[in-house]
Amino acid sequence: MKGNIQISRSLKPKLKTERCRRCYTPIEEKYGYCESCMTRICETIESKIPRKYLGMYNLYFEKILQLRNKSLFITGKTGSGKTGLSFGIMQSELFDGKSCKYICYPEYIDGLRNFQNDGMRTAHYEKMKIANYEGILLLDDVGAETLSEFDRETLYIIVNARYIYNRRAIITSNMSLNQVGEMDDRIASRIAEMCEIVEMEDIDYRVATV
Ligand SMILES: Nc1ncnc2c1ncn2[C@@H]1O[C@H](COP(=O)(O)OP(=O)(O)O)[C@@H](O)[C@H]1O
Ligand SMILES: [Mg+2]
Ligand SMILES: [Zn+2]
Repeated sequence: MKGNIQISRSLKPKLKTERCRRCYTPIEEKYGYCESCMTRICETIESKIPRKYLGMYNLYFEKILQLRNKSLFITGKTGSGKTGLSFGIMQSELFDGKSCKYICYPEYIDGLRNFQNDGMRTAHYEKMKIANYEGILLLDDVGAETLSEFDRETLYIIVNARYIYNRRAIITSNMSLNQVGEMDDRIASRIAEMCEIVEMEDIDYRVATV
């Protein structure tokens, strides 16, 4: 009997007004955001996702649905779409109103090395700012070449901070997790526990002819 009552209740037409997910003003159904919030979100997406990778959201849509809300280690050879998939995921998270930061690891390390000359305090502050970033951190192209001890220690500090504070990270690398482990097992073991491992297909889209 109780069940019947619940069913008849749920069949009643919904009178509740839909509201914008961001500012809660009433909106027409389905879109999730009011027009001005939608414009702002689209502007954020356009400023954070390089034009070249804006189409990746549609291209990897199915995959993105499975990979949302997780920390990821995306491995595959050069040109297999690691950066593209990561930006696609980032676009979907930005659309959900989450904060994301993209870091190209080799470029970041290069900047840090120069900071080091100014005194360790600055370098340390820069490192911890990234390590403790509260949004989703995209660390792209980790270990593209053999990492120096400084690169490795920096990576350890970042990965460890994500790990202990349960903050999300999306790490891409042309190394397998085993290869990361050979380089530094403290890093690999933390990645293995906190990340879902995503292996890209063995294709180089940059040179592949369609
Ligand atoms: N699934 C795909 N189909 C076709 N082209 C793709 C695909 N994924 C990525 N690309 C394109 O291939 C190139 C390399 O992708 P990228 O994500 O930069 O690779 P990686 O980061 O693995 O080196 C880019 O120009 C990208 O637009
Ligand atoms: Mg890349
Ligand atoms: Zn709004």
